[in-house]
Amino acid sequence: MFDTVSMIGLGYIGLPTAAMLASRKIRVIGVDINQHAVDTINKGEIHIVEPELDIIVSAAVSQGYLRATTRPEPADAFLIAVPTPFMGDHEPDVRYVEAAAKSIAPVLKKGDLVILESTSPVGTTEQMSEWLGQARPDLTFPHQKGEGADINVAYCPERVLPGKVVHELVNNDRVIGGITDKCSARAIALYKIFIEANCIKTNARTAEMCKLTENSFRDVNIAFANELSIICDKLDINVWELIKLANHHPRVSILQPGPGVGGHCIAVDPWFIVSKTPQQARLIHTARQVNDGKPHYVVEKVLSAASTMTNPVIACLGLAFKPDIDDLRESPAIEVVQLLAGHNIGHILAVEPHIENLPLSLTNFANIELVSAEAAVQHADIIVMLVSHQVFYAINRSQLQGKYVIDTRGVWQ
Ligand SMILES: NC(=O)c1ccc[n+]([C@@H]2O[C@H](COP(=O)([O-])OP(=O)(O)OC[C@H]3O[C@@H](n4cnc5c(N)ncnc54)[C@H](O)[C@@H]3O)[C@@H](O)[C@H]2O)c1
Repeated sequence: MFDTVSMIGLGYIGLPTAAMLASRKIRVIGVDINQHAVDTINKGEIHIVEPELDIIVSAAVSQGYLRATTRPEPADAFLIAVPTPFMGDHEPDVRYVEAAAKSIAPVLKKGDLVILESTSPVGTTEQMSEWLGQARPDLTFPHQKGEGADINVAYCPERVLPGKVVHELVNNDRVIGGITDKCSARAIALYKIFIEANCIKTNARTAEMCKLTENSFRDVNIAFANELSIICDKLDINVWELIKLANHHPRVSILQPGPGVGGHCIAVDPWFIVSKTPQQARLIHTARQVNDGKPHYVVEKVLSAASTMTNPVIACLGLAFKPDIDDLRESPAIEVVQLLAGHNIGHILAVEPHIENLPLSLTNFANIELVSAEAAVQHADIIVMLVSHQVFYAINRSQLQGKYVIDTRGVWQ
C-alpha cells in the first residue's frame, strides 16, 4: 500500500520517524532544506543527538531503505515535521508548514496521503489541504471533495520525549485525525507499519487540539506549583515539604516548582491556543504568564541577597531547560543568568556540566564565566540552584555553609 514514503523535515522528529519506517523495509525519501543534514544522513550518520538513532540510520542507509535529498520526489505518502515556532506577540508561525506543503505539491499524484506532524494551531491541517489544492487544481482534496478526494490529508501529532525517542516512537499511543474518515484510516494504516501501541482515530481539528492540550495541561500544572512556591516564600513555608504533604491526599498530585518553564514545546504550544481563542483561554494564558514570570522572581531574590554584599560572586548551577540534558532552548535558567548579568551586580559563575562553551546568548556578557560545579561552589557568595542535574546532588552540603543559597529546584530542601 505504501511502497515509498517521504519525510519532509529531518530534525529531532522527522529523522527518527524516517529511520523507523525504513527499518520496517519501507523505501523512505527524506527531504530537508538543510544540505548539511542531508549529506550527513546520506553518509549513514546523524546530525542530532538521540541515543540509538545512529545505529538505525546507519543500517537503513547502508541497506538502501533511507535516502536524503533537498528536493521532494514522488512518493505514496508524505509526512511533514518542520518547525512551528511562534513569532511577534506569541503568534504561531506556520510558514514552514506552508513552504513544505508548497514544495511537495508539484510531485503529488492521485491516491497520495499527506500527513502533518508538526505541532500546529487548530485548523492548520485544513489550511494545508487548501494550500495543496491551490497549487494543484488538477487534483481534488478532502476540504473540497470529502471522501471522494484524490488526495488524503491527516494530522498526527508527536509526543515523544527527547532522549527516549526510539523507544517512544514505537510504544506511545498516537492520536490520528484525518480530514475525512478515509484520510484517518489510511494514516492509521501507515503508522501501524512501525507503531506497536494504539493508533486512536479522531478528526484533524481534535488531533491538533489534543497535542496543544497535552502541553497546556503540563504548563498549567507547573504554573500551579510555581505560584505555590512564591506564596510559600511569602508565608515562610517550605514549599517542598508542603507539596509532599499535600500529595499524600489520594487524589492530589502536585508537580514540582522550578525557575520557570523552558523547552520548545511546553513553553510554546499553549500560546497556539491563546492566540486562537484569547477571550476563552484565560487560565492557559495566566499559566504562561506565571511560568514566564518565575525567572524574574528568582532574579529579584538574588538581587535582594546581593544588595547586602559588595561585588558578590554568584554561582548559577545549571543552564539546560530540564535535568540531565544539554538542550538550552527557551531555558529559564539562561534567562535568569542573562537578567543577572544585565544588572551588573557581581561576577557570575555559570555551571552546565553538559556543555563545553557558553551559549552565544551569554557570551556578550563580560561578567559570566563557565566553570565546574566544584569551582563555582567554592568561590560563590550566592548559590542559585537552577537545574536539578543528577551531578549536583553530589555536592556536599557542608560546602554551602556561610553562603546564601537560593534553591529553585528543591535539591537541598
Ligand atoms: N523535538 C521534539 O521533542 C518534539 C516533540 C513533539 C512535537 N514536536 C514538533 O515537531 C515539529 C518538528 O520539530 P523538530 O524538533 O523535529 O524540529 P527540528 O528543528 O529538529 O527539525 C525540523 C527540520 O525541518 C527542516 N525544514 C524546515 N523547513 C523545511 C522545508 N520547507 N522542507 C524540508 N525541510 C524543512 C529543518 O531544516 C529541520 O531540519 C515541530 O512542530 C515541533 O513542535 C517536536
